[in-house]
Amino acid sequence: MKIISRRKLIQLSLLGGIASALGSRSSFGKVLALMPTPNETEGPFYPAKDQNEKDADLTQIEGHRGVAQGQHIIVSGQVQDIAGHPVANAVLDIWQADANGRYRHPRDPNPAKPDTNFQGWAIIDSDENGFFRFKTVIPGAYPASGTWIRPPHIHLKISKPGYRALTTQMYFPDEKHNKTDLLLNAKSAAEKSAMIAKNIGQQGNLPIYEYNIVLDLLRK
Ligand SMILES: [Fe+2]
Repeated sequence: MKIISRRKLIQLSLLGGIASALGSRSSFGKVLALMPTPNETEGPFYPAKDQNEKDADLTQIEGHRGVAQGQHIIVSGQVQDIAGHPVANAVLDIWQADANGRYRHPRDPNPAKPDTNFQGWAIIDSDENGFFRFKTVIPGAYPASGTWIRPPHIHLKISKPGYRALTTQMYFPDEKHNKTDLLLNAKSAAEKSAMIAKNIGQQGNLPIYEYNIVLDLLRK
């Protein structure tokens, strides 16, 4: 996580009148603050139509015999504020393409066949310690425009009263299309590193990706 200098922090505090909310100090007396997770565009494929099932397992839909195609994975992490405090009961609104790179959206022009066993959308809460977890698939890359291929990514909107609402995208490590993505490569190295999840091991045969989220304070 990026450490913001004391001077920068004072500037931020003056801007937002938040000095009293930021108290964490290292043993060297520096005030520590985490970089808020970078914003990213919502994109054109936020679900257009409501659906019954938006639970934390996107790989299965109730009543379907089959499960979603592709590599099933766990994504887990913690929502924190910029002072490093856990943010409990934050709402995470999550949507993504299926393993073929196709969204459950009527205006997705991708000719790839939709996976009807993939839930595509979830709305979950962080727990009392800010932790969250969901099961999904690694989304497929898909054509955006011209020669631009979007790398696998998961869209998220995270909200909690008192915090600045965040819309962002989570990426996967070691994906070849990360190198040429126009959105990801508009970010700084520190921002990219915050937006790319880390593969931290396996649960049974499911790879686990850690993705932590830092919410900024609401500035008036
Ligand atoms: Fe997308």
